Amino acid sequence: MPSLPRPRPLTAGDTIGDRYTVKRVLGRGGFATVYLCAVGGTESRVAVKVLDAGAAGVPGGLSRFKQEARLLSVLASPHLAAVRDFGALLDGRYFIAMDYIHAADLSIWIEQRVAFDVADVATILRQILVALEAAHGRGIVHRDVKPANVLLEWNGVETTAIRAVLTDFGIAKVLDPERSPFASVQMTTPGEVVCTPLYAPPEVLAARPMRASDVFAVGLIGLELLDGAIPDATGDPKALGKKRCQMVELQLGPKAAASPLADWLRHCIPMRYWERFEDASAARVALDSIIDGMRRERAAASAPAELPDYLAGFNELGPDDEPQKLPLSSMITVEPLVTGRHALSHLVRLDTVGIGVERWERDAASWAARG
Ligand SMILES: Nc1ncnc2c1ncn2[C@@H]1O[C@H](COP(=O)(O)OP(=O)(O)O)[C@@H](O)[C@H]1O
Ligand SMILES: [Mg+2]
Repeated sequence: MPSLPRPRPLTAGDTIGDRYTVKRVLGRGGFATVYLCAVGGTESRVAVKVLDAGAAGVPGGLSRFKQEARLLSVLASPHLAAVRDFGALLDGRYFIAMDYIHAADLSIWIEQRVAFDVADVATILRQILVALEAAHGRGIVHRDVKPANVLLEWNGVETTAIRAVLTDFGIAKVLDPERSPFASVQMTTPGEVVCTPLYAPPEVLAARPMRASDVFAVGLIGLELLDGAIPDATGDPKALGKKRCQMVELQLGPKAAASPLADWLRHCIPMRYWERFEDASAARVALDSIIDGMRRERAAASAPAELPDYLAGFNELGPDDEPQKLPLSSMITVEPLVTGRHALSHLVRLDTVGIGVERWERDAASWAARG
């Protein structure tokens, strides 16, 4: 019987599954190597994750890889890389072809000491949570959320240009397999835990991962993005795991502690899982209201400090014109001020359709010009 060719590292020009031509290595993790590939002879690009030859022999290695393909193929989110194909190389190694994300992973951004401001951090964390919501909604815990598993597409300038994509469902856990459409895969032998200790809360170290475990890891990414490091991230991973199991809470670094995210982060990272947001959805909803607050503050800071002349006297509205809520410098707070006056209620309308401050100023100026 002819034997399979011996697996060897793939290099540029090699083909995977007859259709993907290797261009270069995109990254390597614990179990696999990910290649940038051209599809057929076209300009179209995919990322192809090939399970390392050794990893298939590790107990649960191959079933874990197959499960990763299956889970990812049913989860849809702009913050996940969609699976396009699954197959085997001629030498027997398995591969997953997925959308290519043209981006460096967050661990590289952190290494490069990019200074993320708090709005950028909130946006990145929110997008990771949106990806996790898709998984948690289907009873899947990612279990390996960390900077190396988040790809960040960004020009480094505008917060609105950020796109974070969560990758690597290689050690994801299906909760409650009895009721899940996904069969349970026995990934490890009892007593073993596959995880990245630096981002793992005690229950993951104790082999009892849950949705709140992913929330913990998202919180730690937040600490790292804001302060450049996780406060207790020293020593060897085993010692760290033990320490985490014995401690109650982790201190925030100085920037995280002074940021509007401080309380939210404290709610992500308690060692006791029952003190955390219970899942990605709860954490995302709470984060949304902080992001809203930050937007309002920014709008307030950039709006004119004083009322234009034509609105002089506006503060002296009579009792009919209640309620009056100051300050007037923010477009958002204009809304409750304007009851009872035609011209001013016009501003309310503009406000409620959500137009920007500039447009508001322009409209207000042309209203004033009309006298
Ligand atoms: N869809 C993708 N597009 C671009 N790069 C990717 C993609 N998926 C993974 N990578 C890169 O490959 C690295 C390893 O992939 P990952 O899925 O984390 O493998 P492992 O399971 O071995 O950790 C990632 O850290 C990332 O840099
Ligand atoms: Mg990985």
